[in-house]
Formats: sequence, C-alpha cells, structure tokens
Amino acid sequence: MLRTVGLTKRYGDFLANDSIDIEIRPRQIHALLGENGAGKSTLVKTIYGLIQPSEGEMLWQGERMVLSGPSEARSRGIGMVFQHFSLFDNLTVAENVALGLDGKEAFKDISARLEQVSKVYGLPLDPKREVWQLSVGERQRIEIVRALMQDPKFLILDEPTAVLTPQEADQLFIVLDRLKAEGRAILYISHKLEEVKRLCDTATILRGGKKISTCNPKLETAASLARMMVGTEIREVKAATERKTTVPRLVVNDLSLEPDNPHGVRLAHISLELKGGEILGIAGVAGNGQDELFAALSGERLSQDPGTVVIEGIAAGHLSITQRRKLGAAFVPEERLGHGTAPRMRLSENALLTGHAASGMVRHGFINTAATAEVRRRSRDPSKSSGARRQPADLGRRRRRGRGHQAGVARSRGRRRRRARHQSGPRRARRNHRPDCGDVSWPSFTAA
Ligand SMILES: Nc1ncnc2c1ncn2[C@@H]1O[C@H](COP(=O)(O)OP(=O)(O)O)[C@@H](O)[C@H]1O
Ligand SMILES: [Mg+2]
Repeated sequence: MLRTVGLTKRYGDFLANDSIDIEIRPRQIHALLGENGAGKSTLVKTIYGLIQPSEGEMLWQGERMVLSGPSEARSRGIGMVFQHFSLFDNLTVAENVALGLDGKEAFKDISARLEQVSKVYGLPLDPKREVWQLSVGERQRIEIVRALMQDPKFLILDEPTAVLTPQEADQLFIVLDRLKAEGRAILYISHKLEEVKRLCDTATILRGGKKISTCNPKLETAASLARMMVGTEIREVKAATERKTTVPRLVVNDLSLEPDNPHGVRLAHISLELKGGEILGIAGVAGNGQDELFAALSGERLSQDPGTVVIEGIAAGHLSITQRRKLGAAFVPEERLGHGTAPRMRLSENALLTGHAASGMVRHGFINTAATAEVRRRSRDPSKSSGARRQPADLGRRRRRGRGHQAGVARSRGRRRRRARHQSGPRRARRNHRPDCGDVSWPSFTAA
C-alpha cells in the first residue's frame, strides 16, 4: 500500500530520519519501534504530509506520492492519530470533529455520522460534550473516530496506548483488529513490547534515525526487540531497597476536600504515609479522585487544615506550590503539554517557571544566566524534543539543584471516568516490576 525509499529528514546537520525504507501492506498492523528520539514521529509526520522529506520518496499504491500537506494525505486515504491531541477544549466533540474534516458536510450530518461510526466501532462518544470535560482516553477516542470518519485505507497511530489504561488499550486492540480485518493497513508506534508482540504482524525498528531491521515481532522476545531498539544488552534493573529511611517524607492525614468544579470528585478521609526509598502507588479506576489528590498534594488546591498534608515533617496543607517545592517536593502532572511544560519555551525557561524558588537559577530577584545556560547546554528545547523527554521536567529540575528531591508525585495518565463516582480508597502497592515489557527491564528513556 505504502512504500518509502531512502526517506530522509534533516534538521540542519541533524538526521532525524536517515534513508528509511519501509513497506506497509493491507491487512497489516505494522509496528514502528525505537527509543525516544529514534525518529518515529518524524517518519510518520512525513508520511502524513506534515513535513517534507529532505531526500527520498514515497510510493502510494505503487505510484510516486508527493504530499503538499495533511489534507492531501487524507484525501488519498491516509489517516493519523497524533501522540499529542489537537483538540479545542472549549468546543464540543462534534465541533472538534467537524473542524478536522475537510468536506463541506453539514454539521447535522457530521454529528449523525460521528454517532454512527462511534457505535459501529464500539468507541462511545457523546457529540454534545465539551472536550475539557473528557478524560484523556475519551479525547483519544475523538481523534480515532475523527480519523475513521474519513474511511482511511491506512491509519497511523503514534503511541496511542501511552495514555490509556490496560482496559482501554484492550478495547483499542479490538478496534485495530477489526480495522485490519476490513483490509486497512495500520502503522502503530508503541514502546510496549508485549503489546507489539501480541498485536502486530511486522515491526520496523529505528535507532538514531536509521532503520535497524524489519522483523516478525511474534518470533522475537521483548528482550530481543529491546536490544535492537537500544543497541546494547539491557540488564536487569534492581530497586535500591537499602536506602529506606524511617522518617516519612510525606504524610497525608485524614484529608477531605470538596471538588472545585461540577465534574470533580470529593476526597474523603484519605490517609497515607510515604518514607524515603519507597514508591507508593495509588490504584483505582481513574476519575475517582486521582486528579483531586494530585492537586491537594502539589498545592494547586489548599486545605483548610495545614496538618492534612505533611512534607518532611512540616505541615504543608496550606502552603503554595512553590513553598512545597522549597520543602523538597517535586510534581510531574499527568498532562505534559500545558500543565507540565510550556512547549514553546526553552527548557531552561521551563525550569525557571517552576524551579525559580528552589533552584540556583534566580538570585536576589535576578536570573542567574550562567546557571540557566548550564541547563540549556545540557538539554534541548522541549518544543523540539520527543514526547517522553518532556515528562520528567520537574524531577529533572530538582536534580539540577544538586540535592535529590525528597518527595515526588507523578501522575500517570489513565481513564478519568467522571461519571463514575465510587470512591475508592488509595491503596499502597510497591512497584517491583515493569509491567510493560514482561521479561525485560526497561531503561528509562528520558534525557532530563
Ligand atoms: N523540528 C525539529 N527541529 C530539530 N530537531 C527535531 C525537530 N523535530 C524532531 N527533532 C529531533 O529529531 C529526533 C527524532 O525525533 P522524533 O521523530 O520526535 O523521535 P521519536 O518520535 O522517535 O521519539 C529527535 O532527536 C528530535 O529532537
Ligand atoms: Mg514520537
């Protein structure tokens, strides 16, 4: 269906894609694997017409294809679901879908077709709801339904399961199997190797912008795929259990909090304790207070009673985010773009936004340019860095201070089913395995 020959993308002297040959067939789920920065997004953006290749060519159904932009790709039958959603929060589901379609279809017809497509593929969506009210999983559903409404012959999904719960991912796999059975081709980017083995017929592995191999992932192990991606043997990563401290870094004492918006969840009598050297997991179907708990811990929401949140032995429930950071806490929110980082600003500027109080980057009210230059030297701009590099921005900032962060709160993405209000108490779970790739431990693909 699609073939690329020597496809190359250069940014200055940097080769993001270096002479890539890849062949995608109908009824095929083709995985595109590689570490962060390997060039996966660059390749699929070229295939979707978003960026122009520097060299090489694409053949679509045997004929040379030059794309002037994504609308031309769509008109040929190429659809894409992006790693980062392109939705307007204040518009409804149907309005967002209408904006993404090229035709001159009446809005009423679009809404009707939206409902029909979402029903056929088992991707339920309420066309009238505004996007800001929806969970990350639901937002992705809009993107998928929007792509399917164009009846694509070839669908590209850039890390779709990164934002999904295991259950949501299973639902997505059913949809993908069905699309495959309908004769469509799918190019599927993922880091989750067990998932790739289960779902995909073929895998192409990129490393440093180059194609390393094309193989049948079902005949590989997660370890052998990881080896091809990384280029070296991946050793077992063991948790450092030795450094456990007895003093709690974080204590939550009978925390209750009323929601601050009509779709929020009430926190009721939450207590937990976290010591140094421990990882505490909060389990539960998303939408049951995880967002609210994160806001209460980070200081985005303040409590009446200072003693409900205690950081390093100091009552912090009434303290601001900055004051909590000064106590040694660091926060990585669920939403990387917008909430976690300002993508158009430099990494050093991003570091300043949250690290100004606790870092050496501001002295006597002035920016210490030498310190920010050091951050810049060691990093790249988040606007150009690949997806997962943005994630640990806050934790990275803490490390630069030369002392380890004491308490970190990371919010992983998951379903926030706002209608489900069954309050589930937080549960403590020690993480001693990496669920994503089964028999192999996973190196951290972050640059911070
Ligand atoms: N617009 C750009 N300008 C300069 N470098 C870029 C740009 N876009 C991507 N890159 C670089 O190209 C490399 C590949 O990026 P990307 O395709 O996003 O990787 P992946 O999706 O595999 O994580 C990265 O090192 C990234 O920093
Ligand atoms: Mg990417």
